[in-house]
Amino acid sequence: MRKINISLNENYEDLSMAVANRIAAIIQSNPAALLCLAAGDTPLGALRALVDIQAAGHVNLRNVWYVGLDEWLGLGYQDKGSCAQIMQDSFYGPAGIPLDHVSVFNGLDPDTAIQTTQALAFITAHGGITLALLGIGMNGHLGFNEPGTSIDFPGGVVNLAETTRTVGTKYFDKPFPLERGITVGLRNLLAARHLILMANGEKKAAIVAACMTTQPDSALPASWLPVHPGFELYLDRAAASGLPDQLIKHA
Ligand code: PGA
Repeated sequence: MRKINISLNENYEDLSMAVANRIAAIIQSNPAALLCLAAGDTPLGALRALVDIQAAGHVNLRNVWYVGLDEWLGLGYQDKGSCAQIMQDSFYGPAGIPLDHVSVFNGLDPDTAIQTTQALAFITAHGGITLALLGIGMNGHLGFNEPGTSIDFPGGVVNLAETTRTVGTKYFDKPFPLERGITVGLRNLLAARHLILMANGEKKAAIVAACMTTQPDSALPASWLPVHPGFELYLDRAAASGLPDQLIKHA
């Protein structure tokens, strides 16, 4: 079994702090870093902790660059639960990130080709992604790179998997048609220098174990991560509970 760089944490708070400290260290050694940040429930604690680390004077989040990982097509900032709303209100706003340092997909723009081109051009202009902070979907997706996505997919519009559409309702207090999404693709994510996958809770244990112990397989997009030299896996005890002992021993 491939050795994985694992950070095993007692609970969500410790996990969030560990991820935030790691991101702060990466920013400190990469002053022109481009961060690609996921907007699900999982990273929120780390993003809030990063804002606190900045407030304490230990990192400057305002000089680096940000590209949003994904967005639901048809949703924008005014829709509570959209990626744009979550990230602006819990991170970009509180951290005081200058607007021109952020590229996020506008899910309301019917011209999805322009949205895709802009995000991919932003990534290219910054020399690629320095760090992608990712969560894992219940089906092993990364961003909206759903099962079956090619590792050559640069990014763009995708049809959402059934699991993603069902699980996705948790972000919203009213029903939205969650059919398509727009995402940074596996090709750009896997070209990042650092890849941090963060997972917490018992419900993620089985999919984490499946993706971390199989050979890379397009049916499980997160299974491509362990072969990446800059991959780091951050878990709480519950999310790690399905991993075999040989892997945990490295933690
Ligand atoms: P979550 O989403 O962080 O809200 O669990 C993860 C994902 O779907 O990638």
